[in-house]
Amino acid sequence: MTNPRKPTPQEQARLDSIRRQWQQKKKIEDHMGLIKTKIAVYSGKGGVGKTTVSVNLAVSLATRGSKTGIFDADVDCPNVVEAMQATEGPRYTEETFLPGEMWGVKILSMGFFQENPEDAIIFRGPMIHNSITQFLEGTDWGELDFLITDLPPGTSDAALSIMQNMPVDGFVVVTAPQSLARLDAKRSINMIRKMNIPVLGVVENFTGDVFGEGGGKEISNDMNVPYLGSLTMSPDYRDQSKPTVLTSQGVRQEYDVIVDNLIKNIGSS
Ligand SMILES: Nc1ncnc2c1ncn2[C@@H]1O[C@H](COP(=O)(O)OP(=O)(O)OP(=O)(O)O)[C@@H](O)[C@H]1O
Ligand SMILES: [Mg+2]
Repeated sequence: MTNPRKPTPQEQARLDSIRRQWQQKKKIEDHMGLIKTKIAVYSGKGGVGKTTVSVNLAVSLATRGSKTGIFDADVDCPNVVEAMQATEGPRYTEETFLPGEMWGVKILSMGFFQENPEDAIIFRGPMIHNSITQFLEGTDWGELDFLITDLPPGTSDAALSIMQNMPVDGFVVVTAPQSLARLDAKRSINMIRKMNIPVLGVVENFTGDVFGEGGGKEISNDMNVPYLGSLTMSPDYRDQSKPTVLTSQGVRQEYDVIVDNLIKNIGSS
């Protein structure tokens, strides 16, 4: 048998990089192997309510008895710790993060690692990618029925990192009722489709007298994606002591409809 030729240094570097990527992906899959359904919450436009929807979805699922976690993938502006009013941060052993927990939901967010929440976290593309991969690789979520991931808006590095590295089962797209928001939501749906990941449905937030209603349903019809439900713009969100599904019966009922539809769509996607 002839000895195979020794790879050139360039070839060796390329092989090492492929091996590293493969090992990274494998580690992420191993650590997330006990999570039944991984859902990412996304929107093309900022400020439409992704964090609010992620947090209230997670808490609604947990109050129904599902083992649930929430991962804050917005590493620049992590808001989940504040929105959950989380007091118990993650613990870490040598190589592993064990998520914090609040309202029966396991939580991991860059927000836990900030000394002062008002400080800006300035990350450039590769650092965002690295910190997300480190979180994904290093977190032991244990057994979960649902992991909800709160994404930053737009076609940012963080959103793309998640789509490339995390085995996501489907996306929930949040939109506001107005027409500009609709265009952004359609772009997001097209981007998700390019990645071959299912869109589990559209949620319309801020429905009511101020912004109108019906944008979410229109997107659902135009893009042929399921409609999950609408969330009224409401002063009930002003009380920030707890996620709003725990303080407002009206909001809780709106989320019940969305969760029912979501579970139905996961079964059929
Ligand atoms: N249905 C609603 N009625 C009233 N206020 C709401 C509603 N939904 C969200 N909000 C409020 O709107 C603000 C923006 O919401 P949120 O932070 O969830 O948006 P986001 O899409 O995550 O923003 P970003 O793109 O910056 O991450 C928050 O102060 C939140 O409490
Ligand atoms: Mg947010």
